[in-house]
Amino acid sequence: MAIFENKQDKTFTLFTESTMYQMRVDSIGVLQHVYYGKRMEYTNMSYSVYEGSTSFSPNPLATGWTYSNNHVPQELSVTGIGDFRINALALRNSDGSLAADPRFYSAEILKGKYSIPGLPAFYGEDGETLVITLKDEAYEIYYHLYYGVFEKYDLITRSLRIENKTDKEIKLERALSATLDFPNGKYDMISFYGRHARERMFERTHIKHSKVTVSSVRGASGHMENPFVIISDKNANEEYGNAWGMALVYSGNFEICAETDLMEKTRAVIGINPENFNYGVGAGEVFCTPEVALVYSSEGFGKLSNCLHKAIRNNLVRGEYKYAQRPVLINNWEATYFDFNADKLVSMARDAAEIGVELFVMDDGWFGHRDDDRTSLGDWFPNESKLQGTLKSLAERINNEGLKFGIWFEPECISEDSELYKAHPDYAFKIPNREAQVSRNQYILDFSRKEVCDNIYEQLTKVLKSANISYVKWDFNRHISDLYSVTLPAERQGEVYHRYMLGLYDLLERITSEFPHILFESCSGGGGRFDCGMLYYMPQVWTSDNSDAIDRLKIQYGTSFAYPVRTMGAHVSVCPNHQTARVTPLKTRGNVAYFGTYGLELDITKMTDEEKEEIKRQIKEFKKYYDLIQYGDYYRLISPFTVDESLYCAWETVKEDGSEALVCAVRYESDANTAPETVKVRGLCPDKLYRINGSKETYLGAALMSVGFLLKYDFISYPSNLYHITLA
Ligand code: DGJ
Repeated sequence: MAIFENKQDKTFTLFTESTMYQMRVDSIGVLQHVYYGKRMEYTNMSYSVYEGSTSFSPNPLATGWTYSNNHVPQELSVTGIGDFRINALALRNSDGSLAADPRFYSAEILKGKYSIPGLPAFYGEDGETLVITLKDEAYEIYYHLYYGVFEKYDLITRSLRIENKTDKEIKLERALSATLDFPNGKYDMISFYGRHARERMFERTHIKHSKVTVSSVRGASGHMENPFVIISDKNANEEYGNAWGMALVYSGNFEICAETDLMEKTRAVIGINPENFNYGVGAGEVFCTPEVALVYSSEGFGKLSNCLHKAIRNNLVRGEYKYAQRPVLINNWEATYFDFNADKLVSMARDAAEIGVELFVMDDGWFGHRDDDRTSLGDWFPNESKLQGTLKSLAERINNEGLKFGIWFEPECISEDSELYKAHPDYAFKIPNREAQVSRNQYILDFSRKEVCDNIYEQLTKVLKSANISYVKWDFNRHISDLYSVTLPAERQGEVYHRYMLGLYDLLERITSEFPHILFESCSGGGGRFDCGMLYYMPQVWTSDNSDAIDRLKIQYGTSFAYPVRTMGAHVSVCPNHQTARVTPLKTRGNVAYFGTYGLELDITKMTDEEKEEIKRQIKEFKKYYDLIQYGDYYRLISPFTVDESLYCAWETVKEDGSEALVCAVRYESDANTAPETVKVRGLCPDKLYRINGSKETYLGAALMSVGFLLKYDFISYPSNLYHITLA
């Protein structure tokens, strides 16, 4: 039983395999947060809660000085009633007051995991749901706190529904999804910052008395911060210490903010960014916040990542490609950019088929009259002169070479030079009487409007039905500025960012369910929208436009804290690399791309026979290790962010039962006369004997995990090696 209500203690306790989360209804009906940490037998831990007051911390009349909202750890933290910490909810009542006072009303335990209308969420029969309803002291406003519990993966999800049963509209000025109060201690926040071609760089910050915030106001989760953080003990590392992961299942504006308060307790809130957010909830209406996924590990970041990876693979990603082997693809973007015709693509497909590639992806430039990035977004009809025939005939030509056929779209954007813009200039976000900003020469479509989404839906489905298409890359190459929706009144413009996301998710739901055989890959100028929201609709994401194997070490390593290898688009490209001009061995490029979806992004017709042979070998090797890589437990062994400690980056995937592992180690710096380096493996059986790459010698699992083994030293730039560890 994952959810336990103790009516006498007035506690609710959520149990997962290794974790426990406890709340209680206190003497005045506030839902207090009591505990989130290591699992133990049920015990009422509310004795540990500090409720007391200091001067200048207001008290409810009923409690006197011993209690203040400013100190009580809360499940739903609100503005207006004396809690001066960061909080999740700021609600403007119809009388203009900015306050809420939610008190316990009812609780219900439901079988299965709740879903959220119109929003992505973890799902599964194996989950259980607790709904605690709080009601405002003064108004008919109800707060339904949803808790989903997935025992096996130590995953707890949360979402809030605000139900307005008054007869007037209320306004939400903040509506974040969750508050997490930490009783004591000093913590770090680990977050993942970046920019285009440099996504998800690891950063560790002490949480102090000032606020630590990661956020986006770009209308997308963005390259610059990721809607996932870890809050951990100061000394936590990959194998040791308390760590709490928080991932927002949302792809738009977000905020994750933490602070330590005057009594040295830490609070974190996570949800939709309150900036430019002001949402009206009419009489009888309900507002649902996005979901937050929480994972706790008492054994450091490695275990935390593995729990989240499994939950994402099994209970977030959907569709036919959830478990199916994904085809090895070749994409023509870095090979041709906009300069191609059908004959060129077919010649690439022919050479690719010979070495084992399974899917050909035609990237940007096939529609309207788009030969550069200045035109045609919004005109989703094939350029038949460039394609030397119809899309159907091109797909057939590629199919005849033995490859499946895939195609690129950027459905959310529009070029001024397009038929769509001529017909509907108001479809683009623009503020009246202002010149709108362009970015990559394009505007963004107002997906808060149903008719705009419907137009794109019609166009896309027509294309997808017109030819044998097996894959779609869904790109998004700018962020939202000049936000204004012409169909909403002035007082509702603060709803547009979120309504845009609802429109986008609805469109994605319609298209992905109508074409269940198509593999969808999400992209946003590389990894600019790599989040749990997108993964609900599309099982893989193009991790970065940076395909340089050495830069990819940091990008994929950073990404792995939250997201599984199986979701990371990773391709082998040419050298000198188009983003960094770096020259790396083809073998290293392959080894790095193995820990992703593995594909190619180069002009195969220009490769030497020797290079083609190497790629052929790689495809075979990748397939040999496919299940181990895609479904194994993933461990980060040596960080690429600590060059002063090691010249290597190493990661590992290991079968859950410890019987087989694959370690990849890449040397990303070259120094003369370097000291020998070892790597310590994880997840093996301590008392079993293993061989490395079929060695004669055998090694005890415990030894490989505590002293490790010596890394090979190859005297070349950027060498890399795989170490296949098997039972002796
Ligand atoms: C950005 C993507 O990340 C690239 O892979 C490519 O598809 C271009 N857009 C095409 O415009």
